[in-house]
Amino acid sequence: MSTENYKRPVRKAVFPVAGLGTRFLPATKVMPKEMLPINDQPLIQHVVNEAREAGIEEFIFVTGRHKNLLEEHFDYQPELKQTLQRRGKDKMLEKVEESEMTEGELFLTRQARPLGLGHAIWCARKLISNEPFAILLPDVLVKSQKNGCLKQMVDIYNETGGNVIAVEDVPREETYKYGIVDVDDDGSQKMPVKGLVEKPNIEDAPSTLSVIGRYILQPEVFEHLSAFETGAGGEIQLTDAMAKLIKPQPFYAARFDGKSYDSGSRIGFIEANLAFTSTDPEIGEDVKRVILEMAEKIKNEPKDVAAE
Ligand code: UTP
Repeated sequence: MSTENYKRPVRKAVFPVAGLGTRFLPATKVMPKEMLPINDQPLIQHVVNEAREAGIEEFIFVTGRHKNLLEEHFDYQPELKQTLQRRGKDKMLEKVEESEMTEGELFLTRQARPLGLGHAIWCARKLISNEPFAILLPDVLVKSQKNGCLKQMVDIYNETGGNVIAVEDVPREETYKYGIVDVDDDGSQKMPVKGLVEKPNIEDAPSTLSVIGRYILQPEVFEHLSAFETGAGGEIQLTDAMAKLIKPQPFYAARFDGKSYDSGSRIGFIEANLAFTSTDPEIGEDVKRVILEMAEKIKNEPKDVAAE
């Protein structure tokens, strides 16, 4: 296949949302983790917006049991809109309209058993068919100054073609928690990837650049996912299937402008809420005041009380 074939436009994005969200139990017993709000939008809407900004036209959710709220969130709600209109709540109406998806944009497939991220992506193979596609993990939010993370990656993809994955620096002692790329890190924005390793031992980590949860991949990844090989944690790992594309296809790591937040963890969720609310035009100043007041209070607390 010629290099030009690896440069076809990225029109589709997969959002794996079938996980159990155990780190947020019991909040996620019946409510999907991806519906937890960061500021006034659920996680899933943040990532759908990011994908839309990057030119994505088809949004594919890989869902599972107890996840119906996710698709309902993007529905039209005429009664709600009429009520807001009647009450003159124009700003609120605008926000509700921003959360709607037009007919023919949202596609659903199900992952019957949560066997891992790689398996979730494989469940979308028929909807992707034979074209390049993006993957966005909904529990990872990226806050950037200008363009969103996926838009920045699409810009790089338009130059390089092939596969592009977003990476971010992490402290070496934390590399064991992430997928880590093997690159000659010269500090540049895009670097050819030589290898990928999921959750390496700290001493074996080939770099300190971690894979954050934004990918542009060629459809050949499905051939490797179909093997159903299990990797770290006994799960079908996306990282292992992606690693098989490194030799035969262009494969780049993209260092994006911005910061990622792992909102699937309790502390990352709080941090993301602080980051997104403190820059909100409506409540940002109040949020900053609350943060400063709390920081002052914590500073003045006797040490043993603060530790409780
Ligand atoms: P996570 O591992 O962060 O999600 O997967 P989780 O398993 O739901 O969370 P915890 O660890 O139990 O708290 C990242 C994304 O991949 C999806 C999840 O829904 C999440 O959005 N996922 C994960 C699937 O769709 N299927 C899976 O089998 C695993």
